[in-house]
Amino acid sequence: MQTKQIEIPVTRVRRPKPRPLDDQLGFGQVFTDHMFLMDGAADAGWSDPRIVPYGPLSLEPATVALHYGQSIFEGLKAYRGEDDAVRLFRPERNIARFNRSAARLCVPPVDPDLFLAALKQLVAVDREWVPRAPGTSLYIRPVAFASDPDLHVRPSRTYCFFIMLSPVAAYYAEGFRPLRIRVEDRYARSVRGGTGAAKTAGNYAGSLLAGEEAQAAGFAQVLWLDGIRQEYVEEVGSMNIAFVIGDELVTPPATGTLLEGVTRESVLQLARDYGMTVAERPVTIGELLAAARDGTLREVFGTGTAAVISPVGELAYKGERIRVRDGAVGALSRRLFDDLSAIQRGRLPDRHGWTVPVED
Ligand code: COI
Repeated sequence: MQTKQIEIPVTRVRRPKPRPLDDQLGFGQVFTDHMFLMDGAADAGWSDPRIVPYGPLSLEPATVALHYGQSIFEGLKAYRGEDDAVRLFRPERNIARFNRSAARLCVPPVDPDLFLAALKQLVAVDREWVPRAPGTSLYIRPVAFASDPDLHVRPSRTYCFFIMLSPVAAYYAEGFRPLRIRVEDRYARSVRGGTGAAKTAGNYAGSLLAGEEAQAAGFAQVLWLDGIRQEYVEEVGSMNIAFVIGDELVTPPATGTLLEGVTRESVLQLARDYGMTVAERPVTIGELLAAARDGTLREVFGTGTAAVISPVGELAYKGERIRVRDGAVGALSRRLFDDLSAIQRGRLPDRHGWTVPVED
């Protein structure tokens, strides 16, 4: 994508904030000095793109997004390499998914060239905030929400789009230690025809109670099953899920009920590059239990922008515990994590053209 011709006006902060040290970073609680903003209209698209100091937005209490959840977002990262270059990872995949979410939620699409220019120029303005330490990155959160003050249940006529940045370390407090996950057999995240494939606020709101209950019982998160039979494995909500069963890497197919993760897609490609058999196919919880019993369930791990590769050491389902590798990190999880991080930081050749330098 060619973005050079789009110049976005910048208003800089008068006094930059102190930046946290790399070893003090958590996830998503510290924000950089600037943000990107633009205004949208259902009939006229997006206008007035600008980079301004990060700060509060002013909203009317009647703002549609607050009442009816007409709001979508994305998550991607910028990485600082040992060569000091700052690279985005596959931003065009996030931009495409954003526009699929936009179509599902009746939000006007954003021109991909403008979107990429906004990502690059905002990260370039706050480039000093991109951390250096291994395992750290600059998390990028684009959001579009319905801004009409209007209580009708109908698509808003006006919208706000912003991009904010947050220097981060690992998403899960466990870091790379294998997670304990509860297989959710009461609540559902998504059904056929619903919004499960869209990155929309309501999907996350609807998952909170299950997550809270799982955490109270000592689990990091829940693994969602399909919303009809509660039999087919789908995703974790903050990440997609993959299994090594025998010699095959298996992940549930993206058929509209789960998020089409960019890390998921990249991991499938890397596994193919390693010569592994890769299958996107339905996986039942019964198959996992059987594979755990007969010893063919060799690895379980989550994939996500925030979660990166998160090994899973235990799945709990209706009182039964599926221990995976006795809680140890698997060889494939480790290799994928190392190789993805190395590509993102420019340490391994980028064979698939996944990285995009922020400064051309
Ligand atoms: C991401 O991985 O970027 C996500 O959006 C997951 C989560 C933090 C909501």
